Amino acid sequence: MQEKLEDLKNQAQTELKQVSNEVSLQNLKAKFVGRKGVITEITKSMKDVSSEDRPKMGMLINEVKTYIEALFDEKLNQIKEEKKKRAIAEEKIDVTLPGRNVSLGARHPVSQVMEEIVTIFERMGFEVAEGPEVETDYYNFEALNIPKDHPARDMQDTFYISDDVVLRTHTSPVQIRVMEKEEPPIKIIAPGRVYRCDSDVSHTPMFHQIEGLLVDKNVTFGDLKGVLTEFLRLVFGEGLGVRFRPSFFPFTEPSAEVDIECVICGGQGCRVCKDSGWLEILGCGMVDPEVFKSVNYDPEVYSGFAFGMGIERITMLKFGINDIRLFFENDVRFLRQFV
Ligand code: FA5
Ligand code: MG
Repeated sequence: MQEKLEDLKNQAQTELKQVSNEVSLQNLKAKFVGRKGVITEITKSMKDVSSEDRPKMGMLINEVKTYIEALFDEKLNQIKEEKKKRAIAEEKIDVTLPGRNVSLGARHPVSQVMEEIVTIFERMGFEVAEGPEVETDYYNFEALNIPKDHPARDMQDTFYISDDVVLRTHTSPVQIRVMEKEEPPIKIIAPGRVYRCDSDVSHTPMFHQIEGLLVDKNVTFGDLKGVLTEFLRLVFGEGLGVRFRPSFFPFTEPSAEVDIECVICGGQGCRVCKDSGWLEILGCGMVDPEVFKSVNYDPEVYSGFAFGMGIERITMLKFGINDIRLFFENDVRFLRQFV
């Protein structure tokens, strides 16, 4: 029996060498010192030992049991330690690796320019007003002195929702909505989306305008020219050719369109400016007395000016972009250039 116990120590040691993980270690431990293990078996056979040898054998059994348990504990620590070392090695951060790029979103170039323009007018004392994109015929046309069947309706190819409801073709209806609610003096700008059945290198079916309206006593065309000239200087800097060209709008009298020298071709003529060397960016004029009548302002007391500009056109000129459709293709290679 004594011999058997001594053997057990060696056996445990040898078998332990084969073990490399916690599960097989626990299994092996059970085989030796578990409730149904070899040591328990030996303890049971104590009843066959003579009573004088029994204490000595008992002590030996305990000693072997303690020894084997210690062996297992040591091995368990070893396995745990190795596991930890492996984890650390695997999770090590290689600080010499190049960083991964986080791609940042940015504002669309049209939004950037829109914001810049709004800021310029806000500094001049204009307040921002808004109106609906789905508009009634009355606000989009009638109140702006464009009666049904008037040829001027053809100036803007209209998307009709029904006979009486349209997608607004310009931001001018906001003029009427503001004047209906408020008394002069009025000094507003109205940025927003507008829609026209129109598509080529300088026209898209949806585009953005900013409307301006100033109404007070003694407002003159000189005021209009002053405000717009200063605005264009702030947006494009000095030295860019600007011209006020007589034009016609049913809601202004007199009217003008403002052209800016084509920056794509330097005024030489190209497909963007249709070989004219100039690009039209806005329409403007003195508010027509008929418009004042439709909002119950007295045209004998008040005068005012209004303007409406195309934001995409201005953005194209600012950045030298030669096709307006690029703004709406959502190609990130294009958009990334304006971050
Ligand atoms: C108007 O829309 C008038 N409401 C402007 C106005 C307001 C005049 C107040 C007087 C007083 P027009 O149709 O010319 O005018 O358009 C104004 C600007 O919008 C143009 O100068 C141009 O820059 C831009 N624009 C017009 N159509 C398109 C289009 N399809 N795509 C992109 N920009 C356009
Ligand atoms: Mg025009």
